[in-house]
Amino acid sequence: MQYLKCRIYNMNLMKNKSLVSITDYSKDDYLRILALAEEFENRPDPAVFKDKVVATLFFEPSTRTRLSFESAVLKMGGRIIGFSDSSSSSVTKGETLYDTIKIVSNYCDLIVMRHPLEGAARFASELTSVPVINAGDGANQHPTQTLLDLYSILKTQGTLDNLTIFMVGDLKYGRTVHSLLMAMSQFQTTFHFVSPDELKMPEEYKYYLNCLGLKYTEQKDFNSNIASADIIYMTRVQKERFSDPIEYERTKNAYVLKNKMLDGTKENMKVLHPLPRVNEIDQDVDLNPKAYYFTQALNGVYVRQAIIASILGLK
Ligand code: CP
Repeated sequence: MQYLKCRIYNMNLMKNKSLVSITDYSKDDYLRILALAEEFENRPDPAVFKDKVVATLFFEPSTRTRLSFESAVLKMGGRIIGFSDSSSSSVTKGETLYDTIKIVSNYCDLIVMRHPLEGAARFASELTSVPVINAGDGANQHPTQTLLDLYSILKTQGTLDNLTIFMVGDLKYGRTVHSLLMAMSQFQTTFHFVSPDELKMPEEYKYYLNCLGLKYTEQKDFNSNIASADIIYMTRVQKERFSDPIEYERTKNAYVLKNKMLDGTKENMKVLHPLPRVNEIDQDVDLNPKAYYFTQALNGVYVRQAIIASILGLK
């Protein structure tokens, strides 16, 4: 991608560095990862992770994140240990996260962890000298999702600068939109937040944008006014984050994107979604060339290969 050319990348800056929050990395770090992801996509190298063992510890369900991490490692000659369900681990016997991390770090070169508690990945990263990658901690952050989102945006738009992004749905509990906002704020983005009152973007993120002097709007209406979008980033209303089931029932069908709604949107516009979707994108959108969410999930393999290779100092 032309945008990534003519930049000098020093991958050593990321060696042994945990990735817990997207703010652990600088703008230059993001671009280094994207350049390496492009290299891996164009020229796969089956031996880069030879003799490396990656532990995937998933205390919360996942399809894309876990399997794309595992695919990323296996396709490059590495090995995987771990669990996809903590009920198959000694957590069920009362073992603490502290002890689990202490033990697993003896068995691997890198830990990828998803946990329902915000801050769990930071806690784990402070316990061990083995680098930790946060694969999602509660409603807090999902930094590897953000890096694959950046890669998807760059591949489809040819630039990361001066874009207009509509974030739609659960902006309160959605860790993917929180991380994406922090990253895209480095690229002079204009944000439009579309959500019901109950699921508005938390104040701290709007404060962050205010401090940077970036523009954003908030609206409840999603049927009009998307003509300026370069990216529409749909999100699921996450049942598992609600303590009040009535609030979930009230908001779960707040927005459903239908193919007809894409009439009049910009030629370059793409619909992204971290997935899984429930019913917030109608299946009639899938065949529209502006639907990009399945390729976005594929991009996760290259980007996660790039993240692991950088952290392990292999590239
Ligand atoms: N996007 C994402 O985090 O999907 P999974 O929950 O399936 O990993």
